[in-house]
Amino acid sequence: MSETPASESTLHEPYGLKGLDLPNRAVLAPMTRISAHGDGRATERMRDYYRSFAEGGFGLLVTEGIFTDTAHSQGYLDQPGLATPEDGESWASVTAAVHEQGSSIVAQLMHAGPQGQGNAYTSGLRSASAVRARGEQAGMYRGSGPYEVPDALSAAEIGEVTSSFAAAAVRAREAGFDGVEIHGANGYLVDAFLTDYLNERTDGYGGSPLARTRLAREIIEAVRAAVGNDFVVGIRISQGKVSDATHRWSGGVAEAETIFGALAGTAVDYVHTTEWKANAPAFPDEDARSLSQLAREFAPTLTVIANGHLDTGAEAAQSLGDGGADLVAIGKAALAQHDWPQRVQQGREVLEPLAPSAFGELATLQDWELRVPEPASSSR
Ligand SMILES: Cc1cc2nc3c(=O)[nH]c(=O)nc-3n(C[C@H](O)[C@H](O)[C@H](O)COP(=O)(O)O)c2cc1C
Repeated sequence: MSETPASESTLHEPYGLKGLDLPNRAVLAPMTRISAHGDGRATERMRDYYRSFAEGGFGLLVTEGIFTDTAHSQGYLDQPGLATPEDGESWASVTAAVHEQGSSIVAQLMHAGPQGQGNAYTSGLRSASAVRARGEQAGMYRGSGPYEVPDALSAAEIGEVTSSFAAAAVRAREAGFDGVEIHGANGYLVDAFLTDYLNERTDGYGGSPLARTRLAREIIEAVRAAVGNDFVVGIRISQGKVSDATHRWSGGVAEAETIFGALAGTAVDYVHTTEWKANAPAFPDEDARSLSQLAREFAPTLTVIANGHLDTGAEAAQSLGDGGADLVAIGKAALAQHDWPQRVQQGREVLEPLAPSAFGELATLQDWELRVPEPASSSR
Protein backbone atom coordinates (compact mmCIF):
# COMPACT_ATOMS: atom_id res chain seq x y z
CA MET A 1 0.00 0.00 0.00
CA SER A 2 1.47 3.37 -0.97
CA GLU A 3 0.91 6.88 0.31
CA THR A 4 -1.60 9.06 -1.51
CA PRO A 5 0.34 11.45 -3.76
CA ALA A 6 0.11 15.02 -2.52
CA SER A 7 -1.54 16.11 -5.77
CA GLU A 8 -4.42 13.74 -5.06
CA SER A 9 -4.99 14.85 -1.50
CA THR A 10 -7.66 17.40 -2.46
CA LEU A 11 -9.92 14.50 -3.41
CA HIS A 12 -10.00 13.46 0.23
CA GLU A 13 -10.55 16.89 1.70
CA PRO A 14 -13.99 17.81 3.07
CA TYR A 15 -16.23 20.18 1.17
CA GLY A 16 -19.20 22.24 2.31
CA LEU A 17 -22.03 22.10 -0.21
CA LYS A 18 -24.55 24.49 1.20
CA GLY A 19 -25.53 22.84 4.51
CA LEU A 20 -23.91 19.51 3.65
CA ASP A 21 -20.55 18.65 5.18
CA LEU A 22 -19.20 16.28 2.57
CA PRO A 23 -16.32 14.14 3.85
CA ASN A 24 -14.50 14.25 0.50
CA ARG A 25 -14.81 15.38 -3.14
CA ALA A 26 -15.82 12.03 -4.63
CA VAL A 27 -19.34 11.91 -6.07
CA LEU A 28 -21.10 8.90 -7.54
CA ALA A 29 -22.29 9.89 -11.02
CA PRO A 30 -25.97 9.31 -11.81
CA MET A 31 -26.49 5.97 -13.53
CA THR A 32 -29.78 4.51 -14.71
CA ARG A 33 -30.18 0.93 -13.50
CA ILE A 34 -33.74 0.08 -14.69
CA SER A 35 -34.13 -2.02 -11.55
CA ALA A 36 -37.14 -0.46 -9.81
CA HIS A 37 -40.59 -1.97 -9.39
CA GLY A 38 -42.70 -1.63 -12.52
CA ASP A 39 -44.71 1.21 -10.94
CA GLY A 40 -41.58 3.22 -10.17
CA ARG A 41 -40.98 2.37 -6.50
CA ALA A 42 -37.40 1.84 -5.36
CA THR A 43 -36.49 -1.69 -4.25
CA GLU A 44 -34.45 -3.14 -1.40
CA ARG A 45 -31.76 -4.13 -3.86
CA MET A 46 -31.49 -0.52 -4.89
CA ARG A 47 -31.08 0.41 -1.23
CA ASP A 48 -28.21 -2.08 -0.87
CA TYR A 49 -26.70 -0.95 -4.16
CA TYR A 50 -26.58 2.72 -3.16
CA ARG A 51 -25.41 1.89 0.37
CA SER A 52 -22.43 0.01 -1.08
CA PHE A 53 -21.11 3.18 -2.75
CA ALA A 54 -21.43 5.07 0.53
CA GLU A 55 -19.58 2.25 2.27
CA GLY A 56 -16.93 2.49 -0.42
CA GLY A 57 -16.21 6.11 0.42
CA PHE A 58 -18.29 8.26 -1.93
CA GLY A 59 -19.14 11.39 0.06
CA LEU A 60 -22.04 12.32 -2.20
CA LEU A 61 -24.23 10.06 -4.32
CA VAL A 62 -26.34 11.25 -7.22
CA THR A 63 -29.05 8.74 -8.03
CA GLU A 64 -30.00 7.49 -11.44
CA GLY A 65 -32.43 9.70 -13.34
CA ILE A 66 -35.83 9.56 -11.60
CA PHE A 67 -39.01 10.42 -13.50
CA THR A 68 -41.15 13.22 -12.12
CA ASP A 69 -44.74 12.62 -13.23
CA THR A 70 -47.18 10.01 -14.48
CA ALA A 71 -47.49 11.73 -17.83
CA HIS A 72 -44.60 11.64 -20.30
CA SER A 73 -41.52 11.89 -18.09
CA GLN A 74 -40.66 8.22 -17.64
CA GLY A 75 -38.05 7.19 -20.20
CA TYR A 76 -37.42 3.55 -19.42
CA LEU A 77 -39.50 0.68 -18.07
CA ASP A 78 -38.35 -0.21 -14.54
CA GLN A 79 -36.88 3.26 -14.12
CA PRO A 80 -37.68 4.58 -10.60
CA GLY A 81 -39.94 7.57 -10.00
CA LEU A 82 -40.73 10.32 -7.56
CA ALA A 83 -44.06 10.84 -9.29
CA THR A 84 -46.41 9.53 -6.58
CA PRO A 85 -46.49 9.46 -2.77
CA GLU A 86 -45.76 5.71 -2.93
CA ASP A 87 -42.66 6.38 -5.02
CA GLY A 88 -41.52 8.91 -2.46
CA GLU A 89 -42.00 6.57 0.49
CA SER A 90 -40.04 3.84 -1.26
CA TRP A 91 -36.88 5.98 -1.27
CA ALA A 92 -36.82 6.56 2.50
CA SER A 93 -34.90 3.37 3.23
CA VAL A 94 -32.38 4.22 0.50
CA THR A 95 -31.59 7.64 1.91
CA ALA A 96 -31.43 6.26 5.47
CA ALA A 97 -28.97 3.54 4.44
CA VAL A 98 -26.70 6.10 2.77
CA HIS A 99 -26.88 8.48 5.72
CA GLU A 100 -25.94 5.67 8.11
CA GLN A 101 -22.63 5.50 6.25
CA GLY A 102 -22.03 9.22 6.66
CA SER A 103 -22.65 10.12 3.02
CA SER A 104 -25.19 12.42 1.39
CA ILE A 105 -27.54 11.62 -1.48
CA VAL A 106 -29.17 13.77 -4.13
CA ALA A 107 -32.06 12.64 -6.35
CA GLN A 108 -31.62 13.27 -10.06
CA LEU A 109 -34.95 14.46 -11.47
CA MET A 110 -35.42 13.59 -15.11
CA HIS A 111 -37.99 14.09 -17.85
CA ALA A 112 -37.09 11.85 -20.78
CA GLY A 113 -38.34 14.25 -23.44
CA PRO A 114 -37.52 13.07 -26.98
CA GLN A 115 -35.42 10.15 -25.78
CA GLY A 116 -38.23 8.24 -24.06
CA GLN A 117 -38.36 4.58 -24.95
CA GLY A 118 -40.50 3.00 -22.22
CA ASN A 119 -43.31 4.51 -20.15
CA ALA A 120 -45.67 2.49 -17.96
CA TYR A 121 -48.17 5.33 -17.67
CA THR A 122 -48.59 7.29 -20.88
CA SER A 123 -47.78 6.73 -24.53
CA GLY A 124 -46.20 9.30 -26.76
CA LEU A 125 -43.24 11.60 -26.25
CA ARG A 126 -43.08 15.31 -25.52
CA SER A 127 -40.24 17.66 -26.36
CA ALA A 128 -39.48 21.28 -27.20
CA SER A 129 -40.53 20.67 -30.78
CA ALA A 130 -41.71 17.80 -32.94
CA VAL A 131 -38.15 16.85 -33.88
CA ARG A 132 -36.99 13.25 -33.57
CA ALA A 133 -33.88 12.57 -31.50
CA ARG A 134 -30.95 11.48 -33.65
CA GLY A 135 -29.57 7.99 -33.68
CA GLU A 136 -31.24 4.88 -32.38
CA GLN A 137 -32.82 3.97 -29.04
CA ALA A 138 -30.39 2.73 -26.41
CA GLY A 139 -30.02 -1.04 -26.47
CA MET A 140 -28.77 -1.14 -22.90
CA TYR A 141 -32.19 0.13 -21.85
CA ARG A 142 -33.94 -2.48 -24.00
CA GLY A 143 -34.71 -0.15 -26.89
CA SER A 144 -34.17 -0.61 -30.62
CA GLY A 145 -34.78 1.30 -33.81
CA PRO A 146 -35.35 5.03 -34.24
CA TYR A 147 -36.85 7.16 -31.50
CA GLU A 148 -40.50 8.19 -31.85
CA VAL A 149 -41.26 11.66 -33.15
CA PRO A 150 -42.32 13.67 -30.09
CA ASP A 151 -45.12 16.20 -29.89
CA ALA A 152 -44.18 19.76 -28.96
CA LEU A 153 -45.19 20.67 -25.42
CA SER A 154 -48.01 23.19 -25.27
CA ALA A 155 -47.67 26.22 -23.00
CA ALA A 156 -49.99 24.57 -20.48
CA GLU A 157 -47.97 21.36 -20.56
CA ILE A 158 -44.76 23.28 -19.90
CA GLY A 159 -46.39 24.57 -16.73
CA GLU A 160 -47.33 21.01 -15.76
CA VAL A 161 -43.78 19.78 -16.35
CA THR A 162 -42.37 22.57 -14.19
CA SER A 163 -44.89 21.88 -11.41
CA SER A 164 -44.09 18.18 -11.56
CA PHE A 165 -40.39 18.82 -11.02
CA ALA A 166 -41.30 20.92 -7.98
CA ALA A 167 -43.65 18.25 -6.59
CA ALA A 168 -41.06 15.51 -7.14
CA ALA A 169 -38.47 17.65 -5.34
CA VAL A 170 -40.79 17.97 -2.36
CA ARG A 171 -41.26 14.18 -2.33
CA ALA A 172 -37.48 13.82 -2.46
CA ARG A 173 -37.09 16.07 0.51
CA GLU A 174 -39.75 14.17 2.44
CA ALA A 175 -37.97 10.90 1.60
CA GLY A 176 -34.79 12.14 3.24
CA PHE A 177 -32.77 13.20 0.22
CA ASP A 178 -30.26 15.99 0.80
CA GLY A 179 -31.05 17.68 -2.47
CA VAL A 180 -32.12 17.26 -6.07
CA GLU A 181 -30.24 17.49 -9.33
CA ILE A 182 -32.26 18.61 -12.33
CA HIS A 183 -31.23 16.52 -15.31
CA GLY A 184 -30.42 19.17 -17.87
CA ALA A 185 -28.00 16.97 -19.83
CA ASN A 186 -27.67 14.08 -22.27
CA GLY A 187 -30.54 14.88 -24.64
CA TYR A 188 -33.48 14.52 -22.26
CA LEU A 189 -36.22 17.18 -22.06
CA VAL A 190 -34.36 20.09 -20.47
CA ASP A 191 -31.38 19.53 -22.75
CA ALA A 192 -33.70 19.25 -25.75
CA PHE A 193 -34.83 22.80 -24.99
CA LEU A 194 -31.18 23.91 -24.76
CA THR A 195 -30.31 22.32 -28.10
CA ASP A 196 -30.57 24.39 -31.27
CA TYR A 197 -31.56 21.56 -33.62
CA LEU A 198 -34.21 20.11 -31.26
CA ASN A 199 -35.82 23.42 -30.28
CA GLU A 200 -37.71 25.30 -32.99
CA ARG A 201 -39.99 27.21 -30.62
CA THR A 202 -40.90 30.84 -31.21
CA ASP A 203 -42.72 31.48 -27.91
CA GLY A 204 -39.87 32.67 -25.69
CA TYR A 205 -38.58 29.15 -24.96
CA GLY A 206 -36.60 28.94 -28.21
CA GLY A 207 -34.59 31.03 -30.61
CA SER A 208 -31.62 32.60 -28.86
CA PRO A 209 -29.34 30.55 -26.61
CA LEU A 210 -30.68 32.53 -23.64
CA ALA A 211 -34.30 31.77 -24.56
CA ARG A 212 -33.40 28.09 -24.82
CA THR A 213 -32.34 28.19 -21.14
CA ARG A 214 -35.78 29.41 -20.07
CA LEU A 215 -37.24 26.01 -19.22
CA ALA A 216 -34.18 25.16 -17.11
CA ARG A 217 -34.44 28.47 -15.30
CA GLU A 218 -38.16 28.08 -14.66
CA ILE A 219 -37.75 24.55 -13.32
CA ILE A 220 -34.96 25.67 -10.99
CA GLU A 221 -37.04 28.52 -9.65
CA ALA A 222 -40.14 26.35 -9.20
CA VAL A 223 -38.12 23.68 -7.39
CA ARG A 224 -36.42 26.25 -5.20
CA ALA A 225 -39.72 27.86 -4.27
CA ALA A 226 -41.14 24.45 -3.36
CA VAL A 227 -38.25 23.11 -1.26
CA GLY A 228 -37.02 26.28 0.41
CA ASN A 229 -33.51 27.60 0.76
CA ASP A 230 -31.93 24.94 2.97
CA PHE A 231 -31.99 22.15 0.41
CA VAL A 232 -29.41 21.54 -2.30
CA VAL A 233 -30.60 22.13 -5.86
CA GLY A 234 -28.20 21.39 -8.70
CA ILE A 235 -28.36 20.96 -12.46
CA ARG A 236 -26.48 18.69 -14.83
CA ILE A 237 -25.35 20.09 -18.17
CA SER A 238 -23.68 18.43 -21.18
CA GLN A 239 -22.99 18.94 -24.83
CA GLY A 240 -23.29 15.30 -25.86
CA LYS A 241 -26.49 13.29 -25.77
CA VAL A 242 -27.44 9.65 -25.46
CA SER A 243 -28.76 10.05 -29.01
CA ASP A 244 -25.89 12.24 -30.29
CA ALA A 245 -22.75 11.62 -28.28
CA THR A 246 -20.46 14.01 -30.16
CA HIS A 247 -22.74 17.06 -30.27
CA ARG A 248 -21.11 20.41 -29.44
CA TRP A 249 -22.81 23.72 -28.81
CA SER A 250 -22.68 25.56 -32.13
CA GLY A 251 -22.10 28.89 -30.39
CA GLY A 252 -18.95 27.60 -28.70
CA VAL A 253 -17.56 29.55 -25.75
CA ALA A 254 -20.12 32.34 -26.21
CA GLU A 255 -22.93 29.82 -25.83
CA ALA A 256 -21.24 28.37 -22.75
CA GLU A 257 -21.09 31.87 -21.31
CA THR A 258 -24.81 32.34 -21.95
CA ILE A 259 -25.81 29.00 -20.45
CA PHE A 260 -23.59 29.10 -17.36
CA GLY A 261 -24.23 32.79 -16.86
CA ALA A 262 -27.98 32.20 -16.97
CA LEU A 263 -27.69 29.41 -14.43
CA ALA A 264 -25.57 31.59 -12.15
CA GLY A 265 -28.48 34.04 -12.13
CA THR A 266 -30.83 31.43 -10.64
CA ALA A 267 -31.18 29.94 -7.17
CA VAL A 268 -29.27 26.80 -8.15
CA ASP A 269 -26.37 25.67 -5.93
CA TYR A 270 -24.26 23.64 -8.30
CA VAL A 271 -23.68 22.90 -11.94
CA HIS A 272 -22.58 19.39 -12.85
CA THR A 273 -20.81 19.29 -16.21
CA THR A 274 -20.45 16.02 -18.04
CA GLU A 275 -18.26 15.39 -21.06
CA TRP A 276 -16.69 12.29 -22.59
CA LYS A 277 -13.41 13.44 -21.02
CA ALA A 278 -13.82 16.05 -18.32
CA ASN A 279 -10.31 17.43 -18.72
CA ALA A 280 -10.41 17.81 -22.52
CA PRO A 281 -11.15 21.14 -24.26
CA ALA A 282 -14.88 21.69 -24.71
CA PHE A 283 -14.38 23.51 -28.01
CA PRO A 284 -10.99 22.29 -29.29
CA ASP A 285 -11.08 24.42 -32.45
CA GLU A 286 -11.57 27.59 -30.45
CA ASP A 287 -10.30 27.34 -26.91
CA ALA A 288 -8.28 25.13 -24.59
CA ARG A 289 -10.65 25.22 -21.65
CA SER A 290 -12.72 22.26 -20.52
CA LEU A 291 -16.46 22.55 -19.88
CA SER A 292 -15.89 22.55 -16.10
CA GLN A 293 -13.34 25.36 -16.48
CA LEU A 294 -15.88 27.35 -18.49
CA ALA A 295 -18.54 26.69 -15.83
CA ARG A 296 -16.12 27.90 -13.17
CA GLU A 297 -15.39 31.05 -15.17
CA PHE A 298 -18.94 31.98 -16.18
CA ALA A 299 -20.71 30.79 -13.01
CA PRO A 300 -18.10 31.65 -10.37
CA THR A 301 -20.60 31.61 -7.52
CA LEU A 302 -21.71 28.02 -8.13
CA THR A 303 -20.16 24.77 -6.98
CA VAL A 304 -18.85 22.90 -10.02
CA ILE A 305 -18.95 19.11 -10.30
CA ALA A 306 -16.98 17.64 -13.22
CA ASN A 307 -17.58 14.26 -14.83
CA GLY A 308 -16.18 12.19 -17.66
CA HIS A 309 -13.45 9.56 -17.51
CA LEU A 310 -11.98 10.73 -14.27
CA ASP A 311 -11.01 7.12 -13.77
CA THR A 312 -7.88 7.50 -11.67
CA GLY A 313 -6.84 9.58 -8.70
CA ALA A 314 -4.51 11.54 -10.98
CA GLU A 315 -7.27 12.41 -13.46
CA ALA A 316 -9.58 13.44 -10.63
CA ALA A 317 -6.80 15.54 -9.09
CA GLN A 318 -6.27 17.38 -12.38
CA SER A 319 -9.96 18.24 -12.50
CA LEU A 320 -9.92 19.43 -8.89
CA GLY A 321 -6.70 21.33 -9.47
CA ASP A 322 -6.77 23.73 -12.38
CA GLY A 323 -9.73 21.93 -14.00
CA GLY A 324 -12.23 24.17 -12.32
CA ALA A 325 -14.02 21.49 -10.31
CA ASP A 326 -14.89 21.49 -6.62
CA LEU A 327 -16.15 17.90 -6.79
CA VAL A 328 -15.61 15.04 -9.23
CA ALA A 329 -18.28 12.53 -10.29
CA ILE A 330 -17.21 8.98 -11.13
CA GLY A 331 -19.38 6.74 -13.30
CA LYS A 332 -18.14 3.59 -15.00
CA ALA A 333 -15.04 3.34 -12.82
CA ALA A 334 -17.37 3.33 -9.80
CA LEU A 335 -19.34 0.45 -11.30
CA ALA A 336 -16.09 -1.48 -11.65
CA GLN A 337 -15.36 -0.88 -7.94
CA HIS A 338 -17.87 0.60 -5.53
CA ASP A 339 -14.96 1.51 -3.22
CA TRP A 340 -13.16 3.69 -5.80
CA PRO A 341 -12.53 6.55 -3.30
CA GLN A 342 -11.03 4.23 -0.70
CA ARG A 343 -8.84 2.50 -3.26
CA VAL A 344 -7.49 5.84 -4.44
CA GLN A 345 -6.97 7.10 -0.91
CA GLN A 346 -5.19 3.95 0.21
CA GLY A 347 -3.09 3.67 -2.94
CA ARG A 348 -4.64 0.32 -3.83
CA GLU A 349 -5.18 -0.97 -7.37
CA VAL A 350 -7.80 1.01 -9.31
CA LEU A 351 -9.53 -1.07 -11.98
CA GLU A 352 -10.38 0.14 -15.47
CA PRO A 353 -13.97 1.38 -15.96
CA LEU A 354 -16.42 -1.08 -17.44
CA ALA A 355 -16.06 -1.17 -21.20
CA PRO A 356 -18.82 0.55 -23.18
CA SER A 357 -19.03 -2.51 -25.42
CA ALA A 358 -20.31 -4.47 -22.43
CA PHE A 359 -23.37 -2.27 -21.94
CA GLY A 360 -25.59 -4.08 -24.39
CA GLU A 361 -25.34 -7.27 -22.39
CA LEU A 362 -25.95 -5.63 -19.04
CA ALA A 363 -29.55 -4.88 -18.34
CA THR A 364 -30.10 -5.30 -14.65
CA LEU A 365 -28.67 -4.15 -11.40
CA GLN A 366 -27.56 -7.65 -10.60
CA ASP A 367 -25.62 -7.90 -13.83
CA TRP A 368 -23.72 -4.76 -12.97
CA GLU A 369 -22.97 -5.90 -9.44
CA LEU A 370 -21.85 -9.37 -10.36
CA ARG A 371 -19.88 -8.40 -13.41
CA VAL A 372 -16.15 -8.16 -12.78
CA PRO A 373 -14.49 -6.42 -15.70
CA GLU A 374 -11.47 -8.00 -17.27
CA PRO A 375 -8.79 -5.30 -17.19
CA ALA A 376 -7.16 -6.47 -20.41
CA SER A 377 -10.36 -6.19 -22.45
CA SER A 378 -11.46 -2.81 -21.15
CA SER A 379 -11.47 -0.01 -23.69
CA ARG A 380 -11.97 3.71 -23.45
C1 LIG B 1 -25.17 2.56 -17.22
C2 LIG B 1 -25.16 4.05 -17.25
C3 LIG B 1 -26.32 4.74 -16.94
C4 LIG B 1 -26.32 6.15 -16.93
N1 LIG B 1 -27.45 6.84 -16.54
C5 LIG B 1 -27.39 8.17 -16.37
C6 LIG B 1 -28.47 8.87 -15.77
O1 LIG B 1 -29.48 8.30 -15.33
N2 LIG B 1 -28.35 10.22 -15.64
C7 LIG B 1 -27.24 10.90 -16.07
O2 LIG B 1 -27.17 12.12 -15.95
N3 LIG B 1 -26.20 10.24 -16.63
C8 LIG B 1 -26.24 8.91 -16.75
N4 LIG B 1 -25.15 8.23 -17.23
C9 LIG B 1 -23.93 8.99 -17.56
C10 LIG B 1 -22.96 8.96 -16.38
O3 LIG B 1 -23.49 9.71 -15.28
C11 LIG B 1 -21.62 9.59 -16.75
O4 LIG B 1 -21.84 10.89 -17.21
C12 LIG B 1 -20.90 8.80 -17.83
O5 LIG B 1 -20.84 7.43 -17.52
C13 LIG B 1 -19.47 9.35 -18.02
O6 LIG B 1 -18.76 9.31 -16.80
P1 LIG B 1 -17.64 8.17 -16.54
O7 LIG B 1 -16.63 8.31 -17.62
O8 LIG B 1 -17.09 8.43 -15.18
O9 LIG B 1 -18.34 6.84 -16.64
C14 LIG B 1 -25.14 6.85 -17.28
C15 LIG B 1 -23.99 6.13 -17.62
C16 LIG B 1 -23.99 4.75 -17.59
C17 LIG B 1 -22.71 4.03 -17.90
